[in-house]
Amino acid sequence: METRLEDEVAFEPPEDFVAQANVSDSSIYDEFAANWPECWERAADLLDWDDEYEQVLDDSNPPFYKWFTEGKLNASYNCLDRHVENGDKNRAAIKWEGELGETRTYTYQDLYREVNEFSAALRAQGVEEDDVVTLYMPMIPELPIAMLACARIGAPHSVVFAGFSAEALATRMNSADSEYLVTCDGYYRRGDSLDHLDKANEGLDGVDHDVESVVVVDRLGGDGFDRDLRDNQHDWDDLLAEHDGHRVEPVERDAEDMIFLMYTSGTTGQPKGVKHTTGGYLSYAAWTSHAVLDIEPEDTYWCSADIGWITGHSYIVYGPLALGTTTVMYEGTPDYPECDRLWEIVEKYSVDIFYTAPTAIRAFMKWGEKFPESRDLSSLRLLGTVGEPINPRAWKWYHEHIGNGECPIVDTWWQTETGGMMITTLPGISTMKPGAAGPPLPGIDAQIVDTTGDEVEAGRAGYLTVNKPWPGMLRTLYNNDERYISEYWEEYSDTDSDDPDDWVYFPEDGAKIDADGYITILGRVDDVINVSGHRLGTMEIESAIVGVEGVAEAAVVGGTHDIKGEAVYAYVITEDGYEGDSDFHERIIEGVNDAIGPIARPEEVVFTPELPKTRSGKIMRRLLEDVANGDELGNTSTLRNPEIVEEIESKVNAQSD
Ligand code: WTA
Repeated sequence: METRLEDEVAFEPPEDFVAQANVSDSSIYDEFAANWPECWERAADLLDWDDEYEQVLDDSNPPFYKWFTEGKLNASYNCLDRHVENGDKNRAAIKWEGELGETRTYTYQDLYREVNEFSAALRAQGVEEDDVVTLYMPMIPELPIAMLACARIGAPHSVVFAGFSAEALATRMNSADSEYLVTCDGYYRRGDSLDHLDKANEGLDGVDHDVESVVVVDRLGGDGFDRDLRDNQHDWDDLLAEHDGHRVEPVERDAEDMIFLMYTSGTTGQPKGVKHTTGGYLSYAAWTSHAVLDIEPEDTYWCSADIGWITGHSYIVYGPLALGTTTVMYEGTPDYPECDRLWEIVEKYSVDIFYTAPTAIRAFMKWGEKFPESRDLSSLRLLGTVGEPINPRAWKWYHEHIGNGECPIVDTWWQTETGGMMITTLPGISTMKPGAAGPPLPGIDAQIVDTTGDEVEAGRAGYLTVNKPWPGMLRTLYNNDERYISEYWEEYSDTDSDDPDDWVYFPEDGAKIDADGYITILGRVDDVINVSGHRLGTMEIESAIVGVEGVAEAAVVGGTHDIKGEAVYAYVITEDGYEGDSDFHERIIEGVNDAIGPIARPEEVVFTPELPKTRSGKIMRRLLEDVANGDELGNTSTLRNPEIVEEIESKVNAQSD
C-alpha cells in the first residue's frame, strides 16, 4: 500500500483494523435498506431510555418528522450517570490541555459531580426546563460541563463560538430570547491572554430583553483583567462552592424535546437557529461515533474542532461521551508554541482516533513533515476529516505522514442541520478513494440530481439531495417553520403533499457521483463561503461592510485559498468624498471583525467605482469570483457595465503584486 502513492487511486482498509472494527460486515447496507426505518433502532439501542419509544418514525406530517415517539430519556444521564453506575466512574471522560501546557483530567465521576453541581447552580439562578441558555465560551472544560448541566435540567443550550463578535452574540441571544448566559473572563491565544468578558459585556448591552443571570468562569486567574462583575453576574467557582455535593435528578425529556439550538449561516443576513432534539440527535451522534469513528470506551479519542461549531457538539461532547470513551480537548492553536503541538498531544495522550479539518491538514503540509516525524504517532488507529472537500494530495499526505500508511481515513460529509455524519466510507468495510467522501451511510438515501430533480449520470456534476429523513436531522428553524421549509425542502419537494416520498431535503451542496456510488462534494451552491471549514454567509459580511461609514455598496464572494480552502474577497464602492485608502481598508476589516469576528475578515478589499451588474441591477457575483480566483472571465455580455470587470481585475492584480 505504501508504494506508488502518487498514482494510487484507491486504498483498502488494513486487515488488522478490519479485524477489530465496530462495523465490518458490508451486509449492513442491505440490512438497513431492507429494514428501514426500523434499522434506526440500532442507533436508539446505544442509549438508555427511561420510557421505551412507541414508533421509530412518525412521518405523517412531512417535513416535520418525529423520531422515537413517546420515548423518554435524558442526554446528561446517557453521557454520565450510566457510565458511573456501570463501573466506569474512574475512566477519564475529558482530558483537557490548556494552551500554556496545563492539563486537567475529569473522570466520569468528576464530570458527573461537577455537572450536578452546575445543574443545581443553574436552577438556583432561575433556569427552568425549556429556557434557552447561551454559552459563549472557548475550549475550556466548563463548556461541556455547562452543556451537560443544561441537558440535565432540560434547558436547551445555544453555544455561540467564542471567536464571534459581541454583535453576533447579541443577535443570537435576541433571536432565541435567551435570558441566561455562561461565559468566561478570557482565554489564551498564542500565549497572550484575550479579554472575553469585555466582548460578552458589549454583547449583553445589545440584548433587547432582560438578562436574568450571567455566570463567569475565571479562566485567567492571576492573568485576569482588572474589573468588577456586574450585578447579575456570578462567579462560576462561587456557585459551585454554594452547591457543593448537590445532586440533580436528570429531567425526563421527550425524544422530540429540544436538546439544543445551533445558529448557522445561510443565504440571508440572519443566522438560522437549527433545532435538534434529544432522542434523534443523541442516538445519531452515538451511532455515527460508533460506526464511523469506531470509538470504543477504552479509546482515547480526539477531535480538534471547536465546540462552538456542530462538529464539537456531536463529536467532542455528545457522541463520544454517550459511548463512555475518553475525549481530548485542546484550548489553543496548532502552531503554538511550535508547529508540532498537535502531534505532541497525540504522543502524550496516546491518541487512538484523530478527527480534524482539511484546512488544518493543508497547514501541516505547508509546515512540513519534520513536525509529525519528531513525534511518536504510532498509537493512531483511525483518522477523519470534516468541514470541506479534501484534495487527494492532502488526503495522501495525511494518510502517509500522520497515519503512517496504516490508518484508514474517513472523509465525512455532513452539516449543522444533519446533526451527524451522512456520507462517508465505513472504515472497517469500504475502499477509500482520496477526494471522494464515499457512499451515503447505511439508512441514508442520497442522490445527485439536476435542476429538475432527475438523477444525473455517473461522473456528472449536480446537486446533492437526501430523499429520506434520518434521526439526527434538524426538526425546524427556531420559531420559523416557514423558513425551515423554504431553505431546505421547497427546491425539490411537492410541498402540497403529505406523502413523505414527495419530500426531499436539499443541503445546498453541489456534488458528483461515480459508477461505484462514491460521492465527491463540490461545495456550496448558495451564498455561503466555507472559510477554513467554517460557514459564513456573504450577506452577513456584506451587511457588516455596508455598516462602515463611507461605504456605499459592497459585494462579497469566496475565492480559493491554499490553506483556508476559501477566503473572503470584498468589492467596495465608497460614498462620495471618501478615499479608498489604507485607513479605510483597515476600517472595513475592523467593521467585519466587530460585526462577526476575525474568521470573517476579508482577505482582500478592492475599492471600485462600480460593481458588475446585469441590466436588471443584479450583481454578477460569478464574475467577481472569477476575478478573485484569477480565472478567465466568464461571459460579460449580459452586463450593463462590462468594462468594469476588467478594471476591477487590473486593480486586484496591482494589489497582489
Ligand atoms: C461542507 C460541518 C466536503 C459542505 C460539519 C456542508 C464538506 C458544509 C464536508 C456544512 C466534507 C462538510 N467534504 N464538504 N467532508 N463536510 N462540508 O454546517 O459544504 O459547519 O454543506 O457543518 O460544510 O458546514 P457546517
